[in-house]
This record gives sequence, C-alpha cells and structure tokens, in this order.
Amino acid sequence: MITIKKTTSSRLSSLDSMTIEFGNVFSDHYYRQKWSNGKWHEANIAPLTDILINPAALGLHYGQAVFEGLKAYRGTHDNRIRLFRPDKNAIRLRNSCERLCIPAVSIDNFLEAIVTLVSVEHQWVPKSRLQTLYLRPLLFASEGHLSVRPANSYEFLVLAAPVSEYFDRSGPGIRLKAEDRFTRAAPGGMGAAKTGGNYASTLRPTGDSLKQGFDQVLWLDSYEHNYVEEAGQMNIFLRFKDRVVTPPLSGTILPGVTRECVLTLLDEWGLRREERRVSMEEIAEAIEKKYLLEAFGAGTAAVIAPVKTISYRSANIEFPDLGRETLAQRLYDELTGIQYGEIPDRHQWTVVVE
Ligand code: COI
Repeated sequence: MITIKKTTSSRLSSLDSMTIEFGNVFSDHYYRQKWSNGKWHEANIAPLTDILINPAALGLHYGQAVFEGLKAYRGTHDNRIRLFRPDKNAIRLRNSCERLCIPAVSIDNFLEAIVTLVSVEHQWVPKSRLQTLYLRPLLFASEGHLSVRPANSYEFLVLAAPVSEYFDRSGPGIRLKAEDRFTRAAPGGMGAAKTGGNYASTLRPTGDSLKQGFDQVLWLDSYEHNYVEEAGQMNIFLRFKDRVVTPPLSGTILPGVTRECVLTLLDEWGLRREERRVSMEEIAEAIEKKYLLEAFGAGTAAVIAPVKTISYRSANIEFPDLGRETLAQRLYDELTGIQYGEIPDRHQWTVVVE
C-alpha cells in the first residue's frame, strides 16, 4: 500500500527540455519507504524535498548503501510509457543488498514502487526520442551509530529525473584511457554490487583522464593491469572479425542489464560471441592485424557507446572508421527501437505503465 500526496505546485510547466542533461533535473515527486524493527513499513509518494538525515547515519559514514538505474520511455508512435526489464534491476538490487548486509526489498515491492512513481509522474516522461525518465532507486543505512556494523534502520527512496543521452552520439566515439595504476574492483571485493563506493573510487582516475583529454577510463584487472573489465560505468564489448567478446562476470564486473540484452541479441542474430578475458596485448595485436573491428560500451545510462580510441601506456589504439554500418549502431537501433515501442518486443523485455 503506497500513500500518495501530490504537489500543488508542479514544476513541469517550467521544464525546458532543451536544457535537460543527465541528472540535473528531478520530477515533482519521490518514493520513500523506511525499514526498522525487522520490516519494511508503509511507503509514501510525496513532493520531492530535502530530507532529514541523522548525521551519524551509517550509510554516510561507512558506505552501507546501494542503488539502481533504469528508465521509462515514451512510445514514439503509441505514446505509451514502457519500462525496460525492471525485474532485472529488482534482482540486482537484491543481490547488491545481500553483499552489503542490507535488508532486501522484495521484487514485488520494488516493481510496485517503480510502476506507481512512473504512473504519478507520467507527464514527466519526455516526448523526445533522445530523452527518457531515469529512475534512481537508492537504499541506505539511516541509523545514527558509529561502530562498524550493519545498521538497524534503512531508507528506500526512488527519484525520477528526465534525462538526455549520457554521451553525445554525434561524435566519432569515446576515447578511453586504460588505467594501469588505479583499479575499480578486485576479486572478492564489491565490483559486482551497485554501491556508491565503486563509483567514488573512480572519481580520481576519471578526473585525471578527463584532464588528459579522454572521455572515460577503461578499467583493467587489479592484478596485472592487463585484462579489460569495464569502460567507465559500462560493460565493454569487442567485435573481432569472427566473434564478439566481452569479459565474464567474474565478481569484479557489474552484471549489466544492457550487457545481458546484447548477448541475447547476438545469439538471436546468429553472431558468435564469447564471455572471456581479453588482454591489452590481444587488443593491440588484433588492431594491428586488422581483425579487431569495433569496441563499444553498454549500459542503461549510455545505451551503446562506440569506442574510438584506447590509450594504454605508450600505445594509442585506434579503431577503424566503419561509418554507420557498425554492430554498435545496429544494437543501439534495436534496443532503443524496442524501448520506444517501434520494434516488436519478442523477448517480453518491456512493461507498459498504464
Ligand atoms: C546506469 O547506467 O544506470 C548507471 O548506473 C550509470 C550511472 C552511474 C550514471
């Protein structure tokens, strides 16, 4: 049961769709639910406002917090609002909770929160084919306490933000700096959980790479700094002449929803694909011998982002210009076609919000 209290002064009419970037605007309402005494309590959807937090909240001090990211799309032809595989986000949130000793939100509770918030905010789902309503579920330890232990109280929030695409798609592709000093995750760590610490640890190396003229960091394994793991906040794919390869979900990599869709589409299209480790030497050699054709990142925020160059130590690896005839473009068109209701959803990936 969700109690809904609507705003009397919507900000929607003052929204200028031209100035929307990724994450700079939020909708009128948010979802809030508290956990204490061993259970989740009744939820509210209320006007978005700053909230009171105990300054000793364990989530602030020790990072006991997890989040998700998914989108609502407005159908290009039918104006219907669709979510894309929200059950996958629910499952991943549950797994992230498990890793960080946070009481899980049930799959049904998660889906009800998302569907109800989107239906309250339906007018905030942008009309542009290049924009969506991004949903940000967040779960954090709210108990004020200072010893290092799981908290006794938590908050589950969902925010909604109209967003534009994460990367500018008009350019030639992103320039990656393969990071050979810092790492994102190590075996046995939290790399597979969607938790803020995994993102905080990327700020310094990402900031350095931006200053050097790159767009994102290419994360390598923590031991040898040689095997590719992720590209910025995305999973990475490499298209060799005869197969497409992506690193396996070894525990250091986020199990991306878009990653899973890409693998399914490659199977459906009869393209050979492998989940295996790929070294920087293999990439450099394959580019030189011209049998590595493309690389692209895959993620909810970025969808499919083609890679133009990878810089690794003193080497600059440049991908060939294939124009628009790329696998990255085909995947982007297919995924967004399904999300915006233009292509039949033969995998039952979308959930219509009435
Ligand atoms: C997403 O793709 O939803 C992400 O989580 C990336 C986000 C951190 C910007």
